[in-house]
Amino acid sequence: MTSTTSDAAADAASASRPALYAVPTPLERHAIETAIATRHSIRAFLPTPVPEETIRAILGLAARAPSGTNTQPWKVYVLTGEAKRALSRRLLAAYDDPVEHAANTEEYDYYPTEWRSPYIDRRRKVGWDLYGLLGIAKGDKARMHAQHARNYQFFGAPVGLMFTIDRIMRQGSWLDYGMFLQSVMLAARAHGLHTCPQAAFTPFHRIIMPHIGASENEQLVCGMSLGHADPAAIENSLVTEREPVAGFVRFLS
Ligand SMILES: Cc1cc2nc3c(=O)[nH]c(=O)nc-3n(C[C@H](O)[C@H](O)[C@H](O)COP(=O)(O)O)c2cc1C
Repeated sequence: MTSTTSDAAADAASASRPALYAVPTPLERHAIETAIATRHSIRAFLPTPVPEETIRAILGLAARAPSGTNTQPWKVYVLTGEAKRALSRRLLAAYDDPVEHAANTEEYDYYPTEWRSPYIDRRRKVGWDLYGLLGIAKGDKARMHAQHARNYQFFGAPVGLMFTIDRIMRQGSWLDYGMFLQSVMLAARAHGLHTCPQAAFTPFHRIIMPHIGASENEQLVCGMSLGHADPAAIENSLVTEREPVAGFVRFLS
């Protein structure tokens, strides 16, 4: 292809999709950075409903996430109203029953089986920071149990999302999936909404999958709460730490 032809092709592409090549205005840059920086895991939501149209817009935009050879390995179940409440009731019953709880186990390892520093330190810190805010003392198992149970109530959110993947998909598709999930969370911010991604659901896949009508070819990846954050809830004031750039980046030149 000559440079003239390729220039013409680039011009045609940019004419049809001008925003793709435009340098962001300061306002646009601010909006993108704010969406990323204000995405926090929210653990107390207001009951304010989210219109189905908004949920569709969020998921449609998130589906612009990249995936290897454009395989788009995501499948989403949106739970609201009685469908969500019925699942919550069933999950809480299973979580509160020691026998049933023990019988429900994960299908995939989200976490390492052998914990090491610095991961274990970060894990402990976020746990104690959250419990500290809520006034839950170390060793107060009843209150810890109750706080964890809030996962199964979608932290009061009006929308619960369940994400599944076809069992034939491999590790690379899980990488794609993470990008999709982050895109869902960022797109939610564009609508003033907040989220909490939740692996807490995965041990209960035997209950969740039939409830949402997922086939046996699918595997539960995680769940997510979606809605308006409750600004008065103390747990939503948790700001988690991050390693500074110098701690995880090496510049080579
Ligand atoms: C895939 C995934 C699963 C998670 N599962 C849960 C969960 O089950 N319950 C919960 O309260 N938080 C859950 N979290 C939230 C993390 O604890 C949180 O992202 C982390 O502490 C950093 O805090 P931030 O999201 O507010 O930045 C999960 C996060 C991810 C990415």
